[in-house]
Amino acid sequence: MLAQKRILLIIGGGIAAYKSLDLIRRLSERGAAVRVVMTEAAQHFVTPLAAGALSHDRVFTDLFDREAEHDIGHIRLSREADLIIVAPATADLLAKMAHGFADDLATCVLLASDKKVLVAPAMNPQMWAHAATRRNAARLAADGVAFVGPNAGAMAERGENGPGRMAEPLEIVAAAARLLVPSGPLTGRHILVTSGPTHEPIDPVRYIANRSSGKQGHAIAAAAARAGAQVTLVSGPVNLPDPIGVEVRHVESARDMLAAVEAALPADAAVFAAAVADWRAASAAGEKMKKDGNAIPPLALAENPDILATVSHLSNRRPRLVVGFAAETENVIAYAQAKRARKGCDWIVANDVSQRSGIPGGVMGGDSNAVHFITAEAVEHWPEASKTEVAERLVARIAATFGPLETVS
Ligand code: CTP
Repeated sequence: MLAQKRILLIIGGGIAAYKSLDLIRRLSERGAAVRVVMTEAAQHFVTPLAAGALSHDRVFTDLFDREAEHDIGHIRLSREADLIIVAPATADLLAKMAHGFADDLATCVLLASDKKVLVAPAMNPQMWAHAATRRNAARLAADGVAFVGPNAGAMAERGENGPGRMAEPLEIVAAAARLLVPSGPLTGRHILVTSGPTHEPIDPVRYIANRSSGKQGHAIAAAAARAGAQVTLVSGPVNLPDPIGVEVRHVESARDMLAAVEAALPADAAVFAAAVADWRAASAAGEKMKKDGNAIPPLALAENPDILATVSHLSNRRPRLVVGFAAETENVIAYAQAKRARKGCDWIVANDVSQRSGIPGGVMGGDSNAVHFITAEAVEHWPEASKTEVAERLVARIAATFGPLETVS
């Protein structure tokens, strides 16, 4: 979603400016071309040299820079962007934006722009709570400016606490991606997805795992994001990049996954594609287990919580649509239908993980999948397709079930 996008990052003068350097890197990693404008105050915190090295471009700081004005100019700076991000947005910058001031390059660019603007405020909690800042923020929101953060937490000033911390770079990236996504059939919906295996520790160096690659779950999260949804992906350990425009929570064990899933609720739909380990070591050793002569240590197991069943049976926060997966090696449809009823989910996407499936490379770890789509009423056979195509088909079904968003007038 950020690939080929041009982002103009305006860095304001606050201690959080150091995080904006990381933000440049995170945006570039995702394929965005980042151009940086720094206010004079910002240069007291980070240098144009650092920002330029990370953005691979010159950094713009001065409205009256003859060379830059001749070469690019503040009008072109704002026109040649798909999105403007102001991070950190100080109380002063917000005030200037709210009132249309244009007394330096940053504010000129903002005033000359007809592009979407995302601000990441960062300031002392008292300044954020002040009536003047509240008025300015409300004015900007009414003008269509998008906000990410501020988050609550410890401030740079010792002992100070409260809302005022700049959102983390990855939160800003996710907010930017959402703004750049053309709205789709799932715009306004929150979709929760689990993906990958879980690792259940035996001791600090050993764990129980399975062959899940996370490819199918990650493809579903990415497809839902492309369809405009706000997506939270709770992922076990995988060798895959975080999908673009998706909020990713990385976890290790089944119990961590359950906690992250519960923390991500409420959601409109939840898709449980993770291959959660059914069992964990009953008591993981705190230190590495050593070979002790010929005695082989017994491995006692305990059952993990069933995340899909837990969420399906929630009385108040159950998502409207809960989708499970079933990996079976025989009696695929009958077992999957029984699993749907037992676990209490709405749909099951069942796949044959036996060697007989004929899927090159096997379903687990491979790039394609052939599934049976099972609801309370029917069974559909979806022919072999790439995991991305299966994900898109599933996401289209979810969107069709929800229909257009009821707008509150
Ligand atoms: N699942 C889960 N939490 C668990 C185990 C499974 O959320 N502790 C979810 C998976 O994400 C998947 C579905 O349950 O959506 C089916 O998992 P599967 O491993 O196929 O089923 P099992 O519960 O292991 O049943 P069985 O052993 O009978 O195959």
